Amino acid sequence: MTRTCLSLVLAAGEGTRMKSSRAKVLHEVAHRPLVLHAVDAAIGAGSTETVLVVGRDAESVVGLVGTFEPPLRAFSQLERLGTAHATLAAREALTEGFDDVLILFGDTPLVRPETLLAARAEIAAGAAVCVVGFRTPRPTGYGRLILNGRDLVAIREHKDASDEERRIELCNGGVMAIDGRRALDLLSRIGNENAKGEYYLTDIVSLAHGDGLPVRMVVADEEDVLGVNTRLELARVESIWQARRRDEMMLAGVTLQAPDTVFFASDTVIEPDVVIEPNVVFGPGVHIASGAVVHAFSHLEGARVGPKASVGPFARLRPGADLLARAKVGNFVEIKSTTVGEGAKVSHLTYLGDASVGAEANIGAGTITCNYDGFNKYRTAIGAGAFIGSNSALVAPVLIGDGAYVGSGSIITEDVPADALAIGRARQVVKEGRGREINERNAARKAGRS
Ligand code: UD1
Ligand code: CA
Repeated sequence: MTRTCLSLVLAAGEGTRMKSSRAKVLHEVAHRPLVLHAVDAAIGAGSTETVLVVGRDAESVVGLVGTFEPPLRAFSQLERLGTAHATLAAREALTEGFDDVLILFGDTPLVRPETLLAARAEIAAGAAVCVVGFRTPRPTGYGRLILNGRDLVAIREHKDASDEERRIELCNGGVMAIDGRRALDLLSRIGNENAKGEYYLTDIVSLAHGDGLPVRMVVADEEDVLGVNTRLELARVESIWQARRRDEMMLAGVTLQAPDTVFFASDTVIEPDVVIEPNVVFGPGVHIASGAVVHAFSHLEGARVGPKASVGPFARLRPGADLLARAKVGNFVEIKSTTVGEGAKVSHLTYLGDASVGAEANIGAGTITCNYDGFNKYRTAIGAGAFIGSNSALVAPVLIGDGAYVGSGSIITEDVPADALAIGRARQVVKEGRGREINERNAARKAGRS
């Protein structure tokens, strides 16, 4: 029988050290707010219901919660009186009779679902509380885990710890699992007689131990429980997140030629047998199908790249770029809200916005869709097998039929029927001998000046 699990993500942080106008937990790692990383980990660990505890920035955080699928419940902690007080802000959820309760911090985004599952397993095996600990040679500031054999006896917060206790390198990572049937009773008994005058969630350990209940711990890597308080830590967490995702991608069959130079968003999806060259950056919403290649120095966001398609080097795919199978988008090309058909080529120096390009069409170097008049945007449709000569401006709205041919240097303002030739440029004039005359006159002028 699977156990039900309530996860509480505490996110009523002050976050003043971020020096930010935004709530700390809304700052992003891999383009995803910190707090949602914690939520993802909880859900990954089988959380059946995940709720947030928010504070003074409630409005912006709750705004985010509303966009999450499935929607998350939020509880307000109006006064910041400590982690146990924050947990009890979700009292209503705690009374709903879950088997396990997980507590996570909204500013600790690298927690692994595996770690949470290990803590839940201890509860399933009979522990009242299981704390996620970590070892560090620099324990200052953290709560210390006081052990007696396998039993966790207490957590001593740094400010309340004796000199001897401060030498302990086993610390509280902040994440814990609690037996759902006991959580409310234990939490309600926590007081605030300590150095900070706060209701410490960590006191649940000595309370449970005092009741003769088993309290356990699982040990995680220091990296897994890193909290974000400053933008330095934000960057450090980002870098660890990226390193992990690169490893996962490579193990899942994606070739990264220079992994340290490739940056993913949390939702980047790349199928096996894709090659990513050095210095490629993924914004949110990218899907790359098997067999595609992303050449060096490309930037992709909100884009789909079809099977065996090719992107870059130096390409920019913006939201709504949709490259179908074997399409090619080459160097110094920007694509926005545009479908590039199967096998179509957009090889160099081009901007396509609000357009569609039919299968096997060829878009010459320097082609621009003029999609914007300063107020409104218009669409350009280019048919299958069409050929757009280099340096053409396609002034939208405009339609270029299947198999049509646009002479290079054209400014196309009217629709071009299928299989037609369109040339929209001044006719060439040739004057025999006139070039030499101009050169001789210019040379004489220069001689006269010197
Ligand atoms: C906490 C732990 C400490 C642990 C450390 C790990 C307690 C008492 N201490 O200390 O043992 O080693 O984390 O990083 O739990 N929060 C609220 N409302 C509050 C207070 C806090 O929502 O009233 C949230 C914060 O937004 C934050 C989390 O709880 O996400 C932790 O609070 P913080 O004040 O940073 O605790 P620490 O002193 O770091
Ligand atoms: Ca902290």
